[in-house]
Amino acid sequence: MTICRAKDYKELSRKAANVIAAQVIMKPDCVLGLATGSSPIGTYEQLIEWYKKGDLDFSKVSSVNLDEYKGLNPENDQSYRYFMNTHFFDHVNIDKANTSVPDGLEPDSDKACRKYDEIIEKSGGVDLQLLGLGHNGHIGFNEPCDIFPSGTHCVDLAPSTIEANKRFFASETDVPRQAYTMGIRSIMLAKKIVVVVSGEDKSDILKKVVCGPITPQVPASILKLHPDVVIVADEAALSKM
Ligand code: GLP
Repeated sequence: MTICRAKDYKELSRKAANVIAAQVIMKPDCVLGLATGSSPIGTYEQLIEWYKKGDLDFSKVSSVNLDEYKGLNPENDQSYRYFMNTHFFDHVNIDKANTSVPDGLEPDSDKACRKYDEIIEKSGGVDLQLLGLGHNGHIGFNEPCDIFPSGTHCVDLAPSTIEANKRFFASETDVPRQAYTMGIRSIMLAKKIVVVVSGEDKSDILKKVVCGPITPQVPASILKLHPDVVIVADEAALSKM
């Protein structure tokens, strides 16, 4: 596990975007595992800037996203499909037909999860997975639990996650209680993983992830077993280490 220290969010975003840009340049038809949340927004903005300058070409890239709220329609401005379109896909030349997000509108969880695992498998494997980090150590929506979940599954969101994500909704009651998320095994199968962590409010959990034991109670702690992980964090997030 490599830790890459950035001065602030802007520098963190540029460093993370550099790793992704290198991936796209080295393998133009790569499969990117993409994440939502506030942490990767600056990374997407930087990639868009380089694309507009003519330095990057996403035409052959395909992507699989980590997760989606169960019950939200893709046009809902809080859905992760909407997030990906507005923060990234609409601004670069990626073919949206080659981008996948779990189907939040599929009410049958088993079916939705099976379908998504098939999509991941058919993609041929994720070359680079971008991750954010939840305040409770979640990655994707893999919440703390007793075992590391393997494939795509439906989760009941932890109260702390509902609390953290309510800022994006009109009220707490509007936050969906369930989500479909890629499992830990699928995340760990990515060839390379980049985790973006920003802000003092992430400093305690980042310390637990990096310095604490590997446990499903801190899902991101398993990343220590991956051979190629870089955590790009700003000074505020690294302040407890
Ligand atoms: C959300 C997402 C995660 C994200 C995390 C952190 O609930 N499902 O993929 O990494 O929470 O979000 P943020 O970057 O806004 O702190």
